[in-house]
Amino acid sequence: SCTKSDDKGRPEEQKNGIILGFSQIGAESAWRKCNTRSIKAAAAESGVQLLFSNAEQKQNNQIKAIRSFIAYQVDVIAFVPIVADGWDNVLREARDAGIPVLITDRKINTDDESLYAGFIGTDSEQEGREAGKFLLKKFENSGAEPSNPVRIIEISGTEGSSPAKGRAAGFREIISEHPEYKIIYSESGDFLRSKGNEIMRWILDSKYKDFDVVFSHNDGMTLGILEVMKERGMNPGKDIVIITVDAEQAAIDALGRGEVNCVIECNPKFGPAIMSLAKKLAQGQKIPRLMHVHEEVFTEDDDVSAIPPRGY
Ligand code: AHR
Repeated sequence: SCTKSDDKGRPEEQKNGIILGFSQIGAESAWRKCNTRSIKAAAAESGVQLLFSNAEQKQNNQIKAIRSFIAYQVDVIAFVPIVADGWDNVLREARDAGIPVLITDRKINTDDESLYAGFIGTDSEQEGREAGKFLLKKFENSGAEPSNPVRIIEISGTEGSSPAKGRAAGFREIISEHPEYKIIYSESGDFLRSKGNEIMRWILDSKYKDFDVVFSHNDGMTLGILEVMKERGMNPGKDIVIITVDAEQAAIDALGRGEVNCVIECNPKFGPAIMSLAKKLAQGQKIPRLMHVHEEVFTEDDDVSAIPPRGY
């Protein structure tokens, strides 16, 4: 039979509205699950046909998904790059096929800016700077000095990912001017609660067990860390200063209980912005190269009961 098709050979019933291929990295955190919900709900609300693929934390799965979107001739491709390096080849294939690419949440490293149209997501460097600024204020009058420094443990996110690199860099940018602050140990917990728990368990039995601060790159890992500290009779938030990123409800609740001192928001709810950018790209319009979403900082000085429910 002879079904009418559009200029991409798709059946007529699909030619109204756009097709967006989206490669998500997985479901490693409450933050990530909320990001996925935001994307799926926004696609449904705005009439975008979404081809959604979950890479289960493997870059290779993302590359395969992007190739299948190209073969399907979607109108736009969007993805969350699990790590920053290694995208040039597949992005060249998308460019050669004439499909615009939107990078979301995490950034990529490339020398060829023409490989993608733009980025939308959070500002990881700024999140790290906010962590550093809170720390300087907290220990302002503590009498710390280079010979008796504030001892910091850093539990970072997935190695090679832009939020792990950005948060680490922004934090160091602030504290490196102050020799009375010292990162005594840093390890990646891969943004996983289980690894945060495991690493803290190890630290408390190691030569790094005496510290003043934990800077954890996400709330999931922080919750794992708090669990171990409480098991060991420690008082996180009181004996040890805890700084965490994401602002899940569970972290805000811990802030309210005084177990966490500072929560830096990483905003996952940019599904609607992704849909409107995808529509512009499908119409051949230009979009800004870099778009950061709004984020807040919540601290022990705030009235936590006034913070609206987070939704994740
Ligand atoms: O890329 C954003 C980070 O990824 C969030 O901070 C973390 O929770 C998530 O898994």
